[in-house]
Amino acid sequence: MSLKGRNFLKLLDYQEEEILHILDLSQKFKDMKKNNIPHRYLEGKNIVLLFEKTSTRTRCAFEVAGLDLGMGVTYLDASSSQMGKKESIEDTAKVLGRMYDGIEYRGYGQNIVEKLAKYAKVPTWNGLTNEYHPTQMIGDLLTIKEHFGYLKGLNLTFVGDGRNNVANSLMVACAKMGINYTCIAPNELYPIESLVDTCNEIASKNDCKIKITSDIKDGVAKSNIIYTDVWVSMGEPEGIWEKRINLLKPYQVNQKMMKMANDNCIFLHCLPSFHDLNTTIGKEIFNKYGISEMEVTDEIFKSEKSLVFNQAENRMPTIKAIMYATMSDEKINE
Ligand code: CP
Ligand code: NVA
Repeated sequence: MSLKGRNFLKLLDYQEEEILHILDLSQKFKDMKKNNIPHRYLEGKNIVLLFEKTSTRTRCAFEVAGLDLGMGVTYLDASSSQMGKKESIEDTAKVLGRMYDGIEYRGYGQNIVEKLAKYAKVPTWNGLTNEYHPTQMIGDLLTIKEHFGYLKGLNLTFVGDGRNNVANSLMVACAKMGINYTCIAPNELYPIESLVDTCNEIASKNDCKIKITSDIKDGVAKSNIIYTDVWVSMGEPEGIWEKRINLLKPYQVNQKMMKMANDNCIFLHCLPSFHDLNTTIGKEIFNKYGISEMEVTDEIFKSEKSLVFNQAENRMPTIKAIMYATMSDEKINE
C-alpha cells in the first residue's frame, strides 16, 4: 500500500485499511525508537509547521518525529509569518510548497488547511482545526489497540462538547474502524446532523453504531472507553465559559460515572485537561465560578484507568508514521 503524495486533512478521506496501515507503521516506529534503531529515512527533506493556535503535544510530536526521520524542521507561529495578515493562504501555500516537502497546519477553519494543501501541492497534515483533529485519532487508536489488543466491537463514549474537533474526529474514527460510538452531551452541543448522517452511513457498513444522547446512565452503560475533552476549545470566545460550565457540569467524568461503565473501562483525554487548580485558567475559573475540577475529576485523571499519558506518548510515533507514509513509499527496515 502506498499513501505517498496524500494529504492528511481528515479521517473521512481515509479507508479503514489505510488507517490500519498507518497504525502498523506507528507501532514499528515506536519499537524502533525504543530499541534505539536509527531511522533517518527522510534525510534531505524539510517540513514546516504552521501554528496559529498554541500546542505542546502536537508541535513536539511533529518536531521530534521530523528530526528522528532526519528532516529539517521550521516552526512558524501566528506572529512570525505573513500568512493571513499580509499574504493570502493561497500565496503562502505556493511559496511554502516550493521550499518544503511537507506542511503541518494548526489553526482555525478546516477550509484553511484544505486550501493550503490544494495550492502547496506537497503533503499537508492537519494538526487541529476547529472542525477536526485527525492526527490525535491515530494516537488514540494506537493507545486503544495496545490496551485491548483489538478495535472492532469496542464501545467508546465521548462525554462533553459533542461538536468539537476531537468529538467530531472520534465519531468518524469509530465509524471507520468498527467501534461503537456514543456521544453524551446536552442537546445544544450535539454534533451537527450532516456529520452524524455521514458517520451513520459509514458505521452501517462496518457493523457498528453511532448513538447521540443526553442520558448519562444509558450512554455510559457497557462503555469500554470513556473519553472527554475541555469544555471550551481554543478559538472560542472567552465569554462562553459560564454558559458551558452550566451546560456541562452534569457531564463531568467522575467516579460515579466510571462505575456505571464496563468493569474494564479506561479513561482517555486528548489533553490538556482542567482537572485541578494548577493552571492559570483553572484558577481563574475557580475564582469566578467556584469549581476546582472541570471535565474530569483529579481522582479519575490520576487513576489506574486513565491512559492519558500513553495517548500523549503515542502522538509522536503516529505522527511520524503519518508523515513517512505520505512522503515516501519505501518499505521500512524493522
Ligand atoms: N492533544 C493535543 O493536541 O495537545 P496540544 O494542544 O498540546 O498539541
Ligand atoms: N478541543 C480542544 C482540543 C485540544 C487538543 C481544542 O480545540 O482546544
